[in-house]
Amino acid sequence: MSKYWSSIVNRTDPYVPGEQINDSSLIKLNTNENTYPPPESVIKAIQDEIGESLKLYPSPTVDELREAIAKAYDVRKENIFVGNGSDEVLAFSFMAFFEPGVTIRFPAITYSFYTVYAKLFNIPYEEVRLNQDFTLNTHSLFHSEGGVIFPNPNAPTGILLPIEQVEEVLLHNQEKVVIIDEAYSDFAKESAVPLIQKYPNLLVIQTTSKSRSLAGLRVGYAIGSPELIEGLNKIKNSFNSYTIDRLAMAGAIAAMNADSYYKKTTAKVIETREWLSEELSQLGFHVLPSQANFIFISHPNKKAKSLYAQLKENGILVRHFSKAAIENFIRITIGTKQDMITLLERLKIILKEKSTW
Ligand SMILES: Cc1ncc(COP(=O)(O)O)c(C=O)c1O
Repeated sequence: MSKYWSSIVNRTDPYVPGEQINDSSLIKLNTNENTYPPPESVIKAIQDEIGESLKLYPSPTVDELREAIAKAYDVRKENIFVGNGSDEVLAFSFMAFFEPGVTIRFPAITYSFYTVYAKLFNIPYEEVRLNQDFTLNTHSLFHSEGGVIFPNPNAPTGILLPIEQVEEVLLHNQEKVVIIDEAYSDFAKESAVPLIQKYPNLLVIQTTSKSRSLAGLRVGYAIGSPELIEGLNKIKNSFNSYTIDRLAMAGAIAAMNADSYYKKTTAKVIETREWLSEELSQLGFHVLPSQANFIFISHPNKKAKSLYAQLKENGILVRHFSKAAIENFIRITIGTKQDMITLLERLKIILKEKSTW
């Protein structure tokens, strides 16, 4: 507390990102970055942009990148908004579409940034309970007073809500905005993007941080009706006209044109995820069915918190959340096949040690 802080600072409860430890001997599986590097074409595009043009501001309307994204998703440029990572797009969306004092809904187990934004913008929220198997109970999201937000696949469970059920949530919330955070949808069977043509209240948010291997570049985007995109632009332009710098813009455009490379890396991540899930099940782990680039697991004989600590002692960093409903799970980002073989070897040794229950 400080006498110099505004009431806004006093009511914040900032998000704590996963540890970013700079130790190349550590296998880092804690923040869902892509294990594969971006393609050469992206690195070259960023390098080519380094020069005299940096003395000039970047485009405030981000037209070229919006056009590249629109082409990749078969929509129009007017359907696209771009921001500094999807976290920024999410923050602007809370401001643009949710009203202070009017209750919104999201799942009780979900991306922990949503409560942070809600508190920051004075938006009350209802955290709806998941089913026993961690699937979403769509009925609990119907007729929300202030709007709805959820990730699909959900984080940190990795579970996908089938598109028919997504559409039911939209059908039962036509007066309010429904935001679907699709940070991981490229690792899943389906996306809600085609539904934006039918539902002007649907905003789908995606990112280049996960399937496109560019977490360090900070480019996220929203896809929705021109009406929603205009609302987002009004907020952005009341905040910062230039959220995307020239290098990020060049890299992201190249990334939008590198689909064949990303199809291959995504397929490898999915293949490794399926193989690892099976191997872990055989070790007695409960593995939630993931459609993302991470898995969420627990073991009947070992506390998740000690699994996390023992893996860290053994050079593998995973994520543990202390929230009661999920405190017995750890989240593991899918790495290379070799990383996953090392993970399994170390887990086998840890499981043989005396139980910590
Ligand atoms: C569900 C979800 N949404 C959004 C983000 C933010 O991604 P970025 O800001 O890197 O685009 C993350 C990052 O881990 C996430 O898990």
